Amino acid sequence: MTEFVIHGGRKLKGSIAVQGSKNGALPLLAAALLVCGEVVIENCPQLSDVDCALDILTYLGCKAGRSGNSVAVDCTGMCAHDIPERLMKRMRSSVVFLGAILARAGCAEMTMPGGCMLGPRPIDYHLDALRALGAEIAAEGERLLCRADSLRGCDLFLPFPSVGTTENAMLAASAAQGTTRIMNAAREPEILDLAGFLNAIGIPVRGAGTTVIEVEGGCRTHGARYTVATDRIAAGTYLCAAAACGGTVEITNARPEHMAALTNALRHAGCDILEKLGYMRLTAPSHIAPVGIVETRPYPGYATDMQPPLMALMCTAEGTSVFIENIFESRYNHMEQLRRMGADIQSEGRFAAVHGVARLTGAPVTAPDLRAGAALVTAALGAYGRTEISHIDHLERGYERMDETLRRLGADVIRREQ
Ligand code: UD1
Repeated sequence: MTEFVIHGGRKLKGSIAVQGSKNGALPLLAAALLVCGEVVIENCPQLSDVDCALDILTYLGCKAGRSGNSVAVDCTGMCAHDIPERLMKRMRSSVVFLGAILARAGCAEMTMPGGCMLGPRPIDYHLDALRALGAEIAAEGERLLCRADSLRGCDLFLPFPSVGTTENAMLAASAAQGTTRIMNAAREPEILDLAGFLNAIGIPVRGAGTTVIEVEGGCRTHGARYTVATDRIAAGTYLCAAAACGGTVEITNARPEHMAALTNALRHAGCDILEKLGYMRLTAPSHIAPVGIVETRPYPGYATDMQPPLMALMCTAEGTSVFIENIFESRYNHMEQLRRMGADIQSEGRFAAVHGVARLTGAPVTAPDLRAGAALVTAALGAYGRTEISHIDHLERGYERMDETLRRLGADVIRREQ
């Protein structure tokens, strides 16, 4: 087991470039299956979730290799259409391979995906969308068997702007005959990356970033090179960390236009934020103000992934903040761990009230999931004394060399194997 040992209280100061987006890169690796030829994904972060996607591609018979942050994939030799359980259980995003394998092979087999334990994470919207496009799907226990002799473009209305469903529908629609219109589509920046990539390999996609996306299926694809956007969640986590322990941090490759809901909240908290094209700088106030009510919503609302780090910051605000988690049922796994550090948080179902205390105190804690781990790092950096955070493997699914990045900003963080 790997852990972080953090001595809190040092002000973060300095300049960083943030990794490419995890949630942006993973669907592109699935989309590589649509091409017989090489695709190169630049700015692809070095994370265990990305390694899992590369392992899936290799299992399917594709060539997949990395050189630094550039990943080259050639799916010409794809010869399998199933994903074994051990790979499916490693991450939730593996479900996005369903639409891509179906599009390429006309059939797909997999078990239900794994990932963070955030409460029930059904895939009924994904399956309904694929069925509407012409797939036949049977469930045998945990196993899904999908077949589509021919996929047909159609009008899809999603019951909720689900990110994963929008991605699976775009991938399957790429191989469908005719045009597919996805209505009530997700508008997250990661959808823009997938649309950009599909356009680059020869599949016309219009409307990404709006609620109606059109995909023209059945076009001939070709190799391409595509650069993934900066990870808005990683960037936001470093901003929360900087706010929690004071100081000034600048991000030299930020996409502030993707982070408006967070910067709005951080400004409420008293942070001074300068934004320019491709750049952000946060200067922390001497005292953090409470943010009032924060409700997680689909983009452009406040991101569910940014709820845990902001909650950690609010633990030492001068007053009470209220969080309402609308996306996932159990996304308060960090609360119990924050309480161990002295946080005063009450919760009931989707609601959490965080009453700011003067300071948090270091303690041994466990990262229960990826973004909960980010919350604990944020809290530990601002806390008095030493915090040991175990189960850092969760964090390493989403943050590239986080300890190195934080040390560059002056934090006292050690990563050690136990
Ligand atoms: C979600 C987040 C995404 C985040 C990712 C990882 C939203 C809208 N999506 O994406 O920003 O990066 O988690 O933390 O904030 N649902 C169903 N049936 C389905 C699919 C989804 O009921 O078939 C429900 C889920 O239970 C959940 C909601 O829809 O309540 C959001 O789902 P979705 O956007 O699909 O989740 P992810 O793609 O995992």
